[in-house]
Amino acid sequence: MRILDIITKKRDGFALSELEINFLIHAYTHDEIPDYQMTAWLMAVFLRSMTIEETAALTMAMALSGNMVDLSAVPGIKVDKHSTGGVADTTTLILAPMVAAAGVPVAKMSGRGLGFTGGTIDKLESIPGFKTTLSQPEFIHILKKHNLSVIGQSADIAPADGKMYALRDVTATVESIPLIASSIMSKKIAAGADKILLDVKVGHGAFMKKMEDAIKLAETMVHIGQLVGRETRAVLSSMDEPLGRAVGNSLEVEEAIDVLDGRGEPALRHVCLILGANMLNMAGVAPDVTAGYEMLSNLIDNKVALHKFAEFITAQGGTGDIINHRDLLPQSKLKIPVMSIAQGFVQKIDAGQIGYAAMRLGAGREYKTQTIDLSVGLILQCRIGDFIEKNQPIAMIYVNDKTHLAQVTTLILNAITIGSENVAKTKLILGTVDKSGFKAM
Ligand code: URA
Ligand code: CA
Repeated sequence: MRILDIITKKRDGFALSELEINFLIHAYTHDEIPDYQMTAWLMAVFLRSMTIEETAALTMAMALSGNMVDLSAVPGIKVDKHSTGGVADTTTLILAPMVAAAGVPVAKMSGRGLGFTGGTIDKLESIPGFKTTLSQPEFIHILKKHNLSVIGQSADIAPADGKMYALRDVTATVESIPLIASSIMSKKIAAGADKILLDVKVGHGAFMKKMEDAIKLAETMVHIGQLVGRETRAVLSSMDEPLGRAVGNSLEVEEAIDVLDGRGEPALRHVCLILGANMLNMAGVAPDVTAGYEMLSNLIDNKVALHKFAEFITAQGGTGDIINHRDLLPQSKLKIPVMSIAQGFVQKIDAGQIGYAAMRLGAGREYKTQTIDLSVGLILQCRIGDFIEKNQPIAMIYVNDKTHLAQVTTLILNAITIGSENVAKTKLILGTVDKSGFKAM
């Protein structure tokens, strides 16, 4: 088999065999194919696309390029959750303890933030003492004992994807549905869960700006799951405005505590309950999503989920007492309000711009090796549809110095559009995709 023939075949629009895909991915992982040939192949896929069978073969080849986690020692049906990435999207920190408290084991490998989206691992690292690196036996031990463990994704999970994603990033080949779908699914399959729930974000703050693209991506991932024997379901949720209110690492941990304590942003709570209810239903613990929603709401009301969060933090070496003492989390020195310069209804909140503003404050990374400040960020004080007076605070900035304050204030003011029209609140859950197809909600 020759790599040149594989590139030519894809360039001319033909479907590759599983054998050809395996050969290509194996050789690229082992540095036997130069980046320029892989780039040509990726661009050919970008332009010609792939059949679902090719996409499933690519997914499995990437998953098998490294370690496949074995969770069979942990009893029960393990359901993993993945979000395609949003702003003020603290769902994992809330979902994981909630679902674990309901009796479903949650084994999560999470990533760090990049660009305008945050990462669960950075957020967890703002908790004093919390360890995001555990050995495989420690991970399994905590999982069996507490039903919950979250660690950073190690380099040996789908290494082919890591290498290809870095190349796609600099060769204009990211925005291809088969490449995105196989990239996400390969990591989830290698991480070992029995079933996968995807939170596909739609809107101007998301990867997928249009509903039709989001449905296509969700359908592709659900279909891959079917072909490789890991049941997959997708919830399509809105990223037309930030989901929660906090953007920034320790601030988002505080917001997660708020929601688990029965306070907190209702939109964030609702999306977490819908995602969690789907996980319970897939694990066979709830007969349907409505029953799952009810079960999880009760676990918030009776504080069981909040105490599960503290128990999990303590198990991973952290200070579980943050649930009672927020000031144990890193705190910024300054807290500065942003005042509205107009009066009217909030028409639009640009999630991407808000994420960018928090990144400028030092809460996120522009490039992978950048260090971040876990105490800084911002908290929004309005949502789409709210009526705002002139000079009313619309956001609070948390910083340690004033270096980027003027720029960030302008970014926030520009991200929030205020006008006279009384607009409706954002519809949060847009639909679901499972093996029977797309259902609008
Ligand atoms: N997230 C991924 O993990 N992979 C992609 O290709 C795009 C988003
Ligand atoms: Ca605080």
